[in-house]
Parts: sequence; structure tokens; C-alpha cells
Amino acid sequence: MSANLLNIKLEFAKNVVRQAGGFIRQHLSDDLEISEKSHFDDLVTNLDRDVQDQILAQIQTTFPGDHLLAEENDVRHAIQDGNVWVLDPIDGTTNFIVQRDHFAVMLAYYENGIGKIGVILDVMNDNLYWGNGIRSYKNDKQISLTPKPLRQSLIGVNTYMYRTNAGGLLDLSHESLGVRAIGSAGIEYVNILEGKIWGYFSNLSPWDYAAGAVLIAPFGYVTQQLDGRPLDFEGRQMMMSVPSNQLAALSAYLK
Ligand code: IPD
Ligand code: CA
Ligand code: CA
Ligand code: CA
Repeated sequence: MSANLLNIKLEFAKNVVRQAGGFIRQHLSDDLEISEKSHFDDLVTNLDRDVQDQILAQIQTTFPGDHLLAEENDVRHAIQDGNVWVLDPIDGTTNFIVQRDHFAVMLAYYENGIGKIGVILDVMNDNLYWGNGIRSYKNDKQISLTPKPLRQSLIGVNTYMYRTNAGGLLDLSHESLGVRAIGSAGIEYVNILEGKIWGYFSNLSPWDYAAGAVLIAPFGYVTQQLDGRPLDFEGRQMMMSVPSNQLAALSAYLK
């Protein structure tokens, strides 16, 4: 694909995500319609669905040949097959419902499985993180980041990993300054980009990691399964986003 068309898609992605953030902030005081999906703690609101519908409709109108992979309503296209937009309309839905804070809108664009665009909006701070896999920006400023060694850093986890010691993560955490769990994969990726955490260990679906993986790649980060295999962009998988030059130190801990 030409660099020009990719730039058009990048500007489009930034715009639709910013618009979605404005829409959510306008509706913050509304009564939410909240439904359970698989379990009492797996929730979705009318705003998750509205934001997804709005963004997917804009993609379909503007780039009708492209495909969609999105969290709500079973919108699933294989990541390896052509031009695929990956959307998490509200990441951190539980935070959104309970805290009205610490949630994100995330949109990524992949070509035949290769990440080309990643966009994450930290909605309540109205900060847009965006990149093309080569450079990443916070609003208008290019991000620079050199991860510190694990022993001088904090790590991010999700509560499933914490509760179950999945992959031996608790042992690994003794090699860090401590563990934090924010409740939004998107905000965890923001915290990596801000240098606030060294890496993120979680069990995630493709829309949870697609944008973040593109945004942190320029700084030497890999996003992969705990055992090093690639993520499949299909089901939920135990995974990590960590500096690739420090992977060797992890292998002694991760099972
Ligand atoms: C969830 C959040 C959470 C992570 C879960 C995800 P959602 O996404 O990112 O931090 O622990 O695994 O499902 O459902 O709020 O978009
Ligand atoms: Ca969800
Ligand atoms: Ca999510
Ligand atoms: Ca979501």
C-alpha cells in the first residue's frame, strides 16, 4: 500500500477515535444500559455498542474493501487476510461503569497480519497516542522511551494473572519494584509509553493488544505469548508486552 494511503488511514483513525472520545465524554452523566455477557463481571454498555457502531460505519463508508475485527457483536475477520481494522470501542468497560475513569478507545490497522497503525485515546485525559510502528506520538509530540532494567521498574498485570499466578508471574514480580493492575489494557499500554511501567502481563483478546503492540514496537518491545509464540489474534491468550532485549532474564521465571 502506498505511503500516502497509509497516511490517509492514520489521519482517519486519529479523527474517528478522537470523535468517539468526545461522544463518550458528552454522555458521561447519562444513565447507562448495562448488560452481562459471559459472566456477572463481563459487562457491556449501550455506549460500548454505540461507539463500535459509529466507528465501524465510518470505516465501511470510507474504506469499503477493508475488513473488521471488533469486540462487540461478533465482528470477526482473520488478521492475516488483507486489510483489517481492529477495534475495542471502550477498553476498561468496568472502570468506565464504576469509576468513569481509566478507560480507552483503541483502533489498529493491520495489513496481512502486519501492524501498520495503532491509536489509543486515554479518554478522560483526552490524550491521543498514535503511531505507525516506526514512530509513536502523544498528541503532537514524538515519544522517546528507553526501558529501565526490571529491578528498577514496576510491571502491569491484569487481575486474572494476579489471582492465578499464571505463567509464574508472581515469581517474576519479585524481580521488580512491584505490580500494578489498572483494569484497562489500553491504559497499561499508555503507561508503558509514559515510562510508568516496564511491561504488561495479561490474558487478552486481539482488540486488547492490537493497537498497543504497534505503539510500543518502536522502542524494542515485543508482544507475544508467555512462551514466546506469536499471538493468534483469535481467542483470549496469556501474553506479555516486554522489552525484547530483556527477554532472556524472564525465561528463568515464566513457566
Ligand atoms: C478488558 C480490560 C482489562 C483486561 C481484560 C480485558 P474490556 O477489556 O482491558 O484490563 O484485564 O482482560 O478484557 O472488556 O474492558 O474492553
Ligand atoms: Ca469487554
Ligand atoms: Ca478490552
Ligand atoms: Ca471493550
